[in-house]
Amino acid sequence: MASDNVSIHGAWASRWVFILAATGSAVGLGNIWKFPYMTGVYGGGAFVVMYLFCIALVGVPIMLAETLIGRRGRQSPVNAMKSLAIEAGASKHWSLAALMGMVAALLILSFYSVVAGWSLDYIIGMGRGDFTGISADGAGAAFGGLTSDPWRLTLWHSLFMLITAFVIAKGVVAGLERSLRIMMPLLFVLLLVLLGYSFTTGHFREGFDFLFHFDPSKVQGGILAAMGHAFFTLSVGVGSIMVYGAYMPKKASIGATVLTVGVLDTLVALTAGLALFPIVFAAGLEPGGGPGLMFVTLPIAFGNIAFGQVMGLIFFVLVAVAAWSSSISMLEPAVAYFVEKTGRSRSQVTAVLALLCWLVGMGTVLSFNLWAEAKFFVFADDGFHLLQWGGEGGKTFFDSIDYLTSRILLPLGGLSFAMFAGWVLSRDAVREELSIRNPLLFNLALWLIRVVAPIGVLIVFIAELSK
Ligand code: PHE
Repeated sequence: MASDNVSIHGAWASRWVFILAATGSAVGLGNIWKFPYMTGVYGGGAFVVMYLFCIALVGVPIMLAETLIGRRGRQSPVNAMKSLAIEAGASKHWSLAALMGMVAALLILSFYSVVAGWSLDYIIGMGRGDFTGISADGAGAAFGGLTSDPWRLTLWHSLFMLITAFVIAKGVVAGLERSLRIMMPLLFVLLLVLLGYSFTTGHFREGFDFLFHFDPSKVQGGILAAMGHAFFTLSVGVGSIMVYGAYMPKKASIGATVLTVGVLDTLVALTAGLALFPIVFAAGLEPGGGPGLMFVTLPIAFGNIAFGQVMGLIFFVLVAVAAWSSSISMLEPAVAYFVEKTGRSRSQVTAVLALLCWLVGMGTVLSFNLWAEAKFFVFADDGFHLLQWGGEGGKTFFDSIDYLTSRILLPLGGLSFAMFAGWVLSRDAVREELSIRNPLLFNLALWLIRVVAPIGVLIVFIAELSK
């Protein structure tokens, strides 16, 4: 049986390394950039409560499903699902879900690398003191200056893609495991330093209340956003967690392990919020700044508070490290698959795939400047246009890829993985993998995977598409 073997790509030394790796994947721009700004936009506590529900009821069950499929299949997501489906007497076409996830992960990587590249630029800017005493206009102009310069964006995008490929090319143990052992503790230390600092701003209470004050009137608007974000932040729906599950030791209990990852990811998001909002308030700024919160509002805050330059530098290093440990998990499912399929070396496969992602990412780079007017998927009065130059409506290249992945491919992938684990694999197989001994808890987990998570995804998916 496939589950007795170790994957050809290697294996984590212990379940703790899986926790490290999966947490590294989960904690990223989603936690530090997206979560705080979405909380700001959707009104604070109300969004946080919905997000917590979505994590618990949909995100974690899908993460359980992915991990157990991965560990039982012991191969890249595509081949794991194929062989498990055949073993269970089901159609091998289930593996198409993993194939779709694999493509989605590469597409996410293409733009993630560009945004992560911005944080590299900000490390330099902070280090040089560019933001000291800066005004709101100045910070806006600095961000605009970066995004309107295709060469500068290309430089950072290339560098980030290169360091991602470098870790992946070195392999599961020498590359991923070894770097994660350094990256993750560094990340936690940096975050705690920042949190400690936010205590000293004198606005901690204000930040805390903003995050945790529950205002029921604000619940409605953010529920779809909260669900989509739960997927993105836990890295589920694309096979990243599945491929990491394939490298997990046989004996480790998946139930407890996955729960730890879910809790850690949530704690980091909440801590990031708790660390950032007091700094924003201390500088007298508004929390609802949207996506610009991290690259415009925060630099103003850092530029105008005591020790802001050092703290700002620490902050952007933190962002870059978190993004790095996430980006490697986007590349791994495809690298594992093509190594299995072609028998070529990891380095060769990595080089080709990274180059491909880099090329697609150039579309995102250009969508902020030279191609800003190129609009895809335009529904205009005179009908539908796939691509139109200028005019109203439509999405830029970056927006299109972001929309396609997080609103369509991720939910579809997550739904398929939960259905596969819940209904295609036998109950005994799931029991054996999850190793949750308490029958009540096991049934709860199974019910979440089989029914609650799929229905949750379907509701949100349909609501999104019919918007
Ligand atoms: N979870 C990552 C973040 O929060 C993003 C990610 C999505 C990583 C999908 C891997 C796969 O930034």
